Amino acid sequence: AVERVELNDGTAMPRLGLGVFQAGVDEAAAAVRTALLAGYRMVDTAAVYGNEAGVGRGIADSGVPREDVFVVTKVWNDDQGYDATLRAFDASAARLGLDHVDQYLIHWPRPRLDLYPETWRALCRLRAEGRVRSIGVSNFAPEHIDRLIAESGTAPAVNQIELHPGLHQGGLRAYHASRGIATQAWSPLGRGQGFLSHRAVAAVAEAHGRTPAQVVLRWHLQMGVVPLPKSVTPERIRGNLDVFGFELDATEMDLITGVGDGYHVGPDPSLLFDIS
Ligand code: A2P
Repeated sequence: AVERVELNDGTAMPRLGLGVFQAGVDEAAAAVRTALLAGYRMVDTAAVYGNEAGVGRGIADSGVPREDVFVVTKVWNDDQGYDATLRAFDASAARLGLDHVDQYLIHWPRPRLDLYPETWRALCRLRAEGRVRSIGVSNFAPEHIDRLIAESGTAPAVNQIELHPGLHQGGLRAYHASRGIATQAWSPLGRGQGFLSHRAVAAVAEAHGRTPAQVVLRWHLQMGVVPLPKSVTPERIRGNLDVFGFELDATEMDLITGVGDGYHVGPDPSLLFDIS
């Protein structure tokens, strides 16, 4: 079984999950089924991915009991605001075929809309009603999270951010630690781009007889980050979970950290905040 981490709301969240960004409905269904049969217990999707129905089907097809699976989805920018978010949640739950969701996140803060505090109030209500077990945010900066805490008295359980060997998010991780917020990583492999073939990563992989992806995922785990690697390839899905039986030493951690910092493979929130 995948190890779990206890969140600031008392929920136990698996330490690694499957991402399904850019997977089609059928692809997502097959990937989720494969992942759950391989031992994954967390799946991360979003309304905007358009594949929640596939995620729900994959869970059902796997035969793994619903209560053993930690399902994460997110409210999209267009549905921010109190009432719109409550409606968006119902629609996501219906597509997933689930009566409750384990974790519901605000996908982006979109500070210029100035709706994220209202959106957060809706998430607090969904949690109070038991329709969502845990609530959090994604792509938020400290100032946005501090505003949520000040206005609602409730801190997000997680902030899901871009994080990989080319982007370490040291400042945000320190902030999260100071507020008891867990860090989830999207694109933990850097979208399978150059970082996996970097010679430092290759050297560490070789030393352990592991794949580059496995040592990168190990790097996340040892920093206390919860990675959400995306794959629709069965062999990769299985390999990406097989990361609990070995350990990197401090030198190897530093080698992977030394790959670089400041390289975004997805939208950079700090640039978006100025325009949206
Ligand atoms: P695919 O889904 O075709 O298997 P990230 O999670 O960092 O965004 O990375 C996702 C990308 O990395 C996808 O293109 C995925 O391809 C690829 N990928 C996932 N796992 C591995 C792996 N173990 N080795 C190489 N590439 C991988």
